Amino acid sequence: MAITISPVRIADVRASFVVSERALARTSQVMYEMPLTEETRDIHAAHRTKKMLEAEVASANRGNNGQEEPTEKAFSFKAVDTETGEIVGVSRWTIFYQDEPVTKTLEEEAMQAMLPALPQVRTKALYAFRMCLERIGRKSVALPPLKEGEDLNSVKMRSKRVYLDVLAVDPSHQGQGIGKALLQWGLDEADRLGLITFLESTREGRPLYEKYGFEPTTVDTLELAPFGLEGSLTHTGMVRQPKTKN
Ligand SMILES: CC(C)(COP(=O)(O)OP(=O)(O)OC[C@H]1O[C@@H](n2cnc3c(N)ncnc32)[C@H](O)[C@@H]1OP(=O)(O)O)[C@@H](O)C(=O)NCCC(=O)NCCS
Repeated sequence: MAITISPVRIADVRASFVVSERALARTSQVMYEMPLTEETRDIHAAHRTKKMLEAEVASANRGNNGQEEPTEKAFSFKAVDTETGEIVGVSRWTIFYQDEPVTKTLEEEAMQAMLPALPQVRTKALYAFRMCLERIGRKSVALPPLKEGEDLNSVKMRSKRVYLDVLAVDPSHQGQGIGKALLQWGLDEADRLGLITFLESTREGRPLYEKYGFEPTTVDTLELAPFGLEGSLTHTGMVRQPKTKN
């Protein structure tokens, strides 16, 4: 099977959303009342399309006005099966080119990540999940590093970094090197820029990331019983040092 990796375009947004919904089935179950309807998928895709267009317009305006590059920028990629033309994997990255001042509390950041309120979202579970990711982030990339037991709301700065927001390969195409190919772009970029790479790994993702030089920083488990779901969701903060230092 041959695969090509290229940037996600507006026309790919909906199919990319469906790939991550399928690949991250357990996380999707926590975030949404499953199964998602076609209308809900349309609304989520429209929301992402809007964000992508806004970023493109802002970037074009900056170029026209001779303004400096932004301090952070998002990049999304798709893996396409060349035989079928289908999108079978996606990655989403944010590069923070500068250390990032933290101006909000943990709770405010978790709340902000939930906006706007989209259909079929399990509000309480999603908030708890976002809190879990925010805790992992502050424990993994705080500047200066947090001391044992220190209040997470005392963090004033997060390190510049390459952040992997989403990596998802359709279950029908896993184990064929697609995850690795999608990961490579960010690792190359991190090495080129001399930045650490940070992510919150699912259980399934850990073996891949360990193979590529990521080390665990912290583990956070969300018990799902309070949200009417079984079991728990565990994420591991992981950081990879660049091969060349800034
Ligand atoms: C995790 C995921 C992205 C990996 O993608 P993939 O295309 O299946 O992985 P690859 O085929 O590229 O595997 C890359 C390497 O990791 C190893 N690997 C991948 N999954 C593994 C597993 N479950 N156990 C052990 N090793 C594993 C492979 O052996 C391979 O090593 P190699 O380069 O020596 O051959 C994919 O399985 C997935 O989407 N899972 C569900 C969503 C998810 O959890 N995403 C991670 C979010 S942080």
